[in-house]
Amino acid sequence: MDRLKDKIAVITGAADGIGHAIAEGMAREGAHVFIGDISDKKGETFAASLRDEGLRADYVHCDVAEDKDIQTLIGTAIEKGGRLDILVNNAAVAIGGFPVHEMTDEQWHKLIAINLTSVFRGCKHALPQMIEQGGGVIINMASAQGHIGLDGWTAYAGAKGAVMSMTRQMAVEFGPQNVRVNSISPGTINTPMNEKVIADLGEHVMRAWIKMHPVGRIGKPSEIAEAAIYLASDAAGFTTGIDLRVDGGLTAAPRFVPDLV
Ligand SMILES: NC(=O)c1ccc[n+]([C@@H]2O[C@H](COP(=O)([O-])OP(=O)(O)OC[C@H]3O[C@@H](n4cnc5c(N)ncnc54)[C@H](O)[C@@H]3O)[C@@H](O)[C@H]2O)c1
Repeated sequence: MDRLKDKIAVITGAADGIGHAIAEGMAREGAHVFIGDISDKKGETFAASLRDEGLRADYVHCDVAEDKDIQTLIGTAIEKGGRLDILVNNAAVAIGGFPVHEMTDEQWHKLIAINLTSVFRGCKHALPQMIEQGGGVIINMASAQGHIGLDGWTAYAGAKGAVMSMTRQMAVEFGPQNVRVNSISPGTINTPMNEKVIADLGEHVMRAWIKMHPVGRIGKPSEIAEAAIYLASDAAGFTTGIDLRVDGGLTAAPRFVPDLV
């Protein structure tokens, strides 16, 4: 219950999906969570519902494509909390499901801004405070897509691969300052992001996803939240520079598992 007691945590893209589960889980573990998102109504309602339970939560509007919004989110957490212990760079969009040569420059730049530049900016604004206070934890949301290939997702996978590489670099660079930096690579998780993919591409995609995961199902947001809580907690004090795959065996398996038995 108290794995993150009195920690100050910022989570981007936390009004829904995986970020929502991480914020809720961290708040239940004793953290004061600062929820950033563009979905203001959902974010406000979510933060209020946590406060109603006696937990500590604030919502701050934050479009991670905007540097000033990230600065405001992190600045608010530092101002209200007096420090910053945990940053979860979670927000991202799924633009894909079509060949890379059909992607416009506009789609590419939008994806890179939200899924990759946001991670650079989040770290840039969090690190000075973490270094000054003697340490902190950064968790970047990567993806199984950064490990394996899947038709139609080149740009998304490129951004996630870069997120993992930056995670390793920063772990090395800021280890001496007691800042731990790790990433999580989820397999397919039941979130609005994937509901949209199914709505756009069809139910056959869900059947393929289930088949691709050796555990025979897709994952739950709470299963990613558990990994984030662990990485943020003192129990992971010797863990930095890793990518934690929480993917039901997806990246351990051949892409399509034949019906051999
Ligand atoms: N769902 C999956 O299967 C899966 C798999 C691997 C990795 N991931 C990664 O996990 C993270 C969360 O994914 P999800 O499935 O929960 O997504 P989601 O689309 O279900 O939820 C994303 C949240 O981010 C918010 N958001 C969108 N654009 C934003 C922006 N510009 N600024 C701030 N907030 C914004 C949305 O309003 C929403 O609340 C992402 O980094 C995603 O790439 C997801």
